Amino acid sequence: MQTIDDVNALRTAISGLRRDGARIALVPTMGALHAGHMALVAEARQRADKVVASIFVNPKQFGAHEDLSTYPRAEAADARMLKDGGCDLLWMPSVATMYPDGFASTVSVSGISDLWDGAARPGHFDGVATVVAKLFNQVRPDVALFGEKDFQQLAVIRRMVADLDFAIEIVGVPTERADDGLALSSRNAYLTDEERHSALALPRALGEAAAAIRVGGDAKAALAHGVERLRHAGFDPIDYFALVDAETLAPDPAAGRARRLIAAARIGRTRFIDNLAVD
Ligand code: PAF
Repeated sequence: MQTIDDVNALRTAISGLRRDGARIALVPTMGALHAGHMALVAEARQRADKVVASIFVNPKQFGAHEDLSTYPRAEAADARMLKDGGCDLLWMPSVATMYPDGFASTVSVSGISDLWDGAARPGHFDGVATVVAKLFNQVRPDVALFGEKDFQQLAVIRRMVADLDFAIEIVGVPTERADDGLALSSRNAYLTDEERHSALALPRALGEAAAAIRVGGDAKAALAHGVERLRHAGFDPIDYFALVDAETLAPDPAAGRARRLIAAARIGRTRFIDNLAVD
């Protein structure tokens, strides 16, 4: 596996990988890799001849009071995992390479970026869309893979790719969970044992609400019960616990549309997001 941090060297290496018409997959990450990321790499290997992963902790998607300076970093271990997972190239640009002096452009996917996490974290999805658009232009993959754990991020990226005519297939990969159901996340590294235990209420509340709605139960009552369960477990604040259209993320999905339950809430200094398909 080659590791590259320079855009020109990346272009040359990508041309090499693409020789003989090879199909290229991109797995964008911010590092601190876990089994969820490796599931993306494994899926990428099924869908392409060559796999490129990127590691870049993107300052533009962190708010002023968020955890940019303490975000977990484990570059040597990450590189080993990617190599062992069959990744062909690791793209690891610096902040100065991604955002050189004078950088002035923003990709903004309006509407969908303003809902839910966008409301709780203003500017977050502009940062995500901007960096993902750059990664797409740098690597020019045929297919790119993202975890369903960040469900709104996936929906924003799908909208951007459709709107801006990126000729890239976007694949959402189901959330990897620990045996007890907690969704894997790099930020789980922050948790105390007690917090981790309390956090299990989140996947459980989603599972209960989804089960109730699936069998025709009253959605409002199921959501209210879910919020109550989270509050009881110590989540505070609860940013949202909602039933949405799985494509647009609009609340109160119309009949016949695929539905998703989405939630975000905080325990201590850790903010959790999770989601579940209803249909
Ligand atoms: O999901 C992530 O790790 C990041 O938001 C992404 C897509 C790599 C963009 O920085």
